[in-house]
Amino acid sequence: MLKNIIEISKEAGSIIREGFGKNNIVEFKTDEGNLVTEIDKRSEKTIINFIKKNYPKDSILAEEGSNSKGSSDNLWIVDPLDGTTNFTHGLPIFAVSIGVIKKDEIIAGVVYDVMNEIVYSAENGSGAFANDKQIRVSSNDRIGRSLLATGFAYNVKDNPQHSFEKFTAVTKSARAVRRLGSAALDICHVAKGIYDGFWEINLEPWDVCAGMIISKEAGGTVTDFSGEEIDIYSKQILVTNGKVTERLLNLLSKN
Ligand code: IPD
Ligand code: CA
Ligand code: CA
Repeated sequence: MLKNIIEISKEAGSIIREGFGKNNIVEFKTDEGNLVTEIDKRSEKTIINFIKKNYPKDSILAEEGSNSKGSSDNLWIVDPLDGTTNFTHGLPIFAVSIGVIKKDEIIAGVVYDVMNEIVYSAENGSGAFANDKQIRVSSNDRIGRSLLATGFAYNVKDNPQHSFEKFTAVTKSARAVRRLGSAALDICHVAKGIYDGFWEINLEPWDVCAGMIISKEAGGTVTDFSGEEIDIYSKQILVTNGKVTERLLNLLSKN
């Protein structure tokens, strides 16, 4: 199955790469901050057609609305283009993210870094990979030496839920905090040991599903801000290398 997910992620990635820098039609979903382009839709359609053809009994939850209920235990979670704002503005940081859940467990995940042509992938119990190379989280245990990342949901202006306070508090403690605009890639960058941790509020299942299995298989931890294990529907996510977790939990829960 993983081989197939990688193949379709790359196919969707080619559509995105081909559309990058062109004058794509952009629509507003809820407001001017929340965009969808014709490329998001074309990428989703390609992935959905593939799932329906090859796994006709499986269920699908996809960001742009191609949802369906099947008779098997498998549920595909699809973000056809994670980082649409970057894509629309010509910033080459975005990904395709596809995860598969069986009953309540994530069994496979692929995040395709479209412009760098890096496939992050993982299957339950088999480790995490960037293309053919196995990846591991970093070993840094000092918050002051940490490079961290976060993001802000589209509704942050109406519903900040202390995002800014958390950002300020962590920035004062870490070496640096980045905000690059693709949660799926952020999580994979923890898995690859680039970031020591990542947190965000109000992400959606398709932003985190594939990244969750990839980071866990790379030795990372995935919790909410109380340190409890989460599922893909959680409104808080903290992904770390397992070494700076306590300090981050402290900062995130108190600010
Ligand atoms: C967004 C990105 C971004 C995160 C937002 C997401 P989209 O996904 O992952 O990094 O901060 O919360 O909605 O809309 O570009 O697929
Ligand atoms: Ca997304
Ligand atoms: Ca998206």
